[in-house]
Amino acid sequence: MTTTNVETEPKKPTGLAGVIAGKSSVGFIDGKVGILRYFGYDIHELAEHSSFEETVYLLWNGDLPSPPDLADFTTSLASQRPVAPQILDFIAAAPAGVTPMGLLRTAVSALGQYDPDAEEMSIAANRRKAGRLTAQLATLVAAIHRARDNLQAVAPDPALGHAANFLYMLRGERADSTTTRALDVALVLHADHGFNASTFSAKVTAATLSDLHSAVTSATGTLKGPLHGGANQRVREMLDDIGTPERVEEWVDAKLEAKQKIMGFGHRVYKVEDPRARHLRDHARALQGDQDAGATDLIAVSQRLVEVMAERKGLAVNVDFWSASLYSYLGVAPDLFPMVFALSRISGWTTHVMEQYADNKLIRPRAEYIGPDARAYVPVADRD
Ligand code: COA
Repeated sequence: MTTTNVETEPKKPTGLAGVIAGKSSVGFIDGKVGILRYFGYDIHELAEHSSFEETVYLLWNGDLPSPPDLADFTTSLASQRPVAPQILDFIAAAPAGVTPMGLLRTAVSALGQYDPDAEEMSIAANRRKAGRLTAQLATLVAAIHRARDNLQAVAPDPALGHAANFLYMLRGERADSTTTRALDVALVLHADHGFNASTFSAKVTAATLSDLHSAVTSATGTLKGPLHGGANQRVREMLDDIGTPERVEEWVDAKLEAKQKIMGFGHRVYKVEDPRARHLRDHARALQGDQDAGATDLIAVSQRLVEVMAERKGLAVNVDFWSASLYSYLGVAPDLFPMVFALSRISGWTTHVMEQYADNKLIRPRAEYIGPDARAYVPVADRD
C-alpha cells in the first residue's frame, strides 16, 4: 500500500511534458506549426542571413548588433579561444576508451579552475565568462578530436570566424566556403531551444547561485544522453546499419515491431517537421558532392527513412536527423557529433543562465510520493 502526499490533478504529465516551468524572453517555439524564433527573429531568416557570432550577440543582448558592434564582438570572441595548456595536456592524457562527451564535460569543468572570474557573480563577470566559455569550447572539442589520433592541438587563428576557425583547429587546414557556411548555419540553428533538457539543467544549477562553469558542466553532462544531444550520433549509426534505401522499410518495420525508437524522429515539442531540419538537409546535400563518407549514401537512405516514418508513424524528423549527414560530410566522427551540438548550444546555455541570475528563484519541485507507507525500523541484528 502506498501514500500519496501531493495534491495533484488526476492525470499528470510525465517528464514535465507541456509544463510551463518559468518565463523566458529568449526563444519562442510553436511546436504545432513549427515556428522557432530567437528574440523574435525567425529561424529561417537567421539560417539564411546570420552567422554564429551575430546569433550569439543577439542571444546575449536581445538585439542584433550594428556593424561595428558585430566586428568588435567577433574580434573579442576570437581573442578568447586559447585554453590553459594544462587542460590540453589533460585531454591528451585521457585514458583510451573515454567517451568524447565525457571528456568534454570534465574539460569544461576544468576551465573554471583557470578562469580569472571563476567565482565572480557580477553581470559583467558572467558576460566575460560566457564569452570565454563559448570561445574555448571550440578549442576543447577540436583538441579532443585530434588527441584521439595522437595529433597535437592546433592553435586557434584569430583571423578566422568561429566556424572557420573550428574547422581549421579540427583539420589542421582551412576549409572552403561551402563547408564553413554549412557549419556556421548548423551552429546558428542549434544555438537555443527554450527549456530543452540541457538548458534546463543549467538553469537548475544556476538557480542555486552556483557559478556559470558549474551550470555549463551540468548542461554538458545532460546533452551527452542519447535522447538529447547523443541522438545525432545514433542517427549516423542507424544509417550505416541500414546501408541502402531499399533496406529502409524492412529495417524500420523490425524496429517498430520491437517497440524501439527510430533516432532522429519525434520531438517533445514539435508535432510537425522541426523548422531547423530543412536547412541542415540542404547544406548536407550541398556538402555531399562527390564525397564518400563511407559506404553508405547517407542522403538517399535518410530521404527514404523520412518517407517510411511518415507512412508508418506520421512522425517527422527533428534537428538531429539531418545533422548526422551534415556532420559526416564535415569529416566529424559520429561519436564527436554531440560535441558539435555543444559547440553551438553553449550560447543558449549561457544566455539562459544569465537570464536566471537576473531574476533568480531556486528551482526545487516536489515529488509525488509513491513509496511504502510508514513502517517501524528493525535493527540489523533483528532482521531475518
Ligand atoms: N520512433 C518511433 N516511435 C516514436 C518515436 C521515434 N523516434 N518518437 C516518438 N514515438 C512514438 C512513441 O512510441 C509514442 O507512441 P505511443 O503513444 O504509441 O506509445 C509516441 O510517439 C510518443 O512518444 P514519447 O516517447 O512518449 O514522446 P516524448 O515526448 O517523451 O519523446 C523524444 C520525445 C524526442 C524523446 C522521442 O521522440 C524519441 O525518443 N526520439 C528519438 C530520439 C531522438 O531523436 N532524440 C532527439 C530529440 S531532439
